[in-house]
Amino acid sequence: MLFKQQAWLRQKLLVLGSLAVGSLLYLVARVGSLDRLQPICPIEGRLGGARSQAEFPLRALQFKRGLLHEFRKGNASKEQVRLHDLVQQLPKAIIIGVRKGGTRALLEMLNLHPAVVKASQEIHFFDNDENYGKGIEWYRKKMPFSYPQQITIEKSPAYFITEEVPERIYKMNSSIKLLIIVREPTTRAISDYTQVLEGKERKNKTYYKFEKLAIDPNTCEVNTKYKAVRTSIYTKHLERWLKYFPIEQFHVVDGDRLITEPLPELQLVEKFLNLPPRISQYNLYFNATRGFYCLRFNIIFNKCLAGSKGRIHPEVDPSVITKLRKFFHPFNQKFYQITGRTLNWP
Ligand code: A3P
Repeated sequence: MLFKQQAWLRQKLLVLGSLAVGSLLYLVARVGSLDRLQPICPIEGRLGGARSQAEFPLRALQFKRGLLHEFRKGNASKEQVRLHDLVQQLPKAIIIGVRKGGTRALLEMLNLHPAVVKASQEIHFFDNDENYGKGIEWYRKKMPFSYPQQITIEKSPAYFITEEVPERIYKMNSSIKLLIIVREPTTRAISDYTQVLEGKERKNKTYYKFEKLAIDPNTCEVNTKYKAVRTSIYTKHLERWLKYFPIEQFHVVDGDRLITEPLPELQLVEKFLNLPPRISQYNLYFNATRGFYCLRFNIIFNKCLAGSKGRIHPEVDPSVITKLRKFFHPFNQKFYQITGRTLNWP
């Protein structure tokens, strides 16, 4: 009887022992395979802060986004800032323009990347003398809270066309990355006009027709004094920037393609910013009502851009459009040549 009990106990212990060893082996194998399946993606050294990437993977940054979102509203206490190791960093990349090129869409879409934090407002530090006079610390304090491993990006489209800006940005950071988002120049000029027109209408003011502003009535030529036309001569503005920054520090985003096919454009930007590819088709879905792509951060949170983005343009006399396109053509060629990016503009 005693012998039988001892044999039974031995058998049980053997089963339990092999179960424990089996589980241990399974765990070791699973952790190993998980590591292989979900590698911790490196953030390039130049983006790095004090901690090593192994200590602070992108995955963790993704989970902490919600927290940052709360702090972005400006209500982080000193204790929270210290506890979470939050910082307000100067931008490592700036969307310098072009107005109506899709600057807001680009910023919001880049913000889908876990290593990117956007400055929500246009700060107008470098183009506004009063703001610039407040100094670089004022600018830094306008930046959102972020983790040291993230990069901050701001956008102020007025930077592209303002004379003093390239030198001022150069003085802050001569190796900063500069993003320019452009659209076919005539479409951009009409979009620019549409925005101004809407502002006038809101104030119950009348405004000229686009044709009247874009074409000089005396010469019947394109009116280069009209700001919406001047802004679309991209090469002229870029040449001023090139006095301070080499072309390698610029990346041209095709704003027309960002509307119809955003992902490949965003992937090019990820590459330019040396970010591991993280924005995927999951993050972008076409909203038929809006007629644009909208953003999906996760299963709960998604958003479309405000209604002020994607206005209906007024009808413009086709002969004026043709004239404008002809006018922009040589400037476009030069722009392609300088930037190395050829766009399919007429
Ligand atoms: P329109 O209003 O002419 O259509 P910006 O942000 O620089 O002011 O640019 C505004 C333009 O962004 C809009 O011009 C719109 O076409 C474009 N855009 C690009 N992607 C968009 C998106 N996903 N949602 C809304 N607008 C988008």
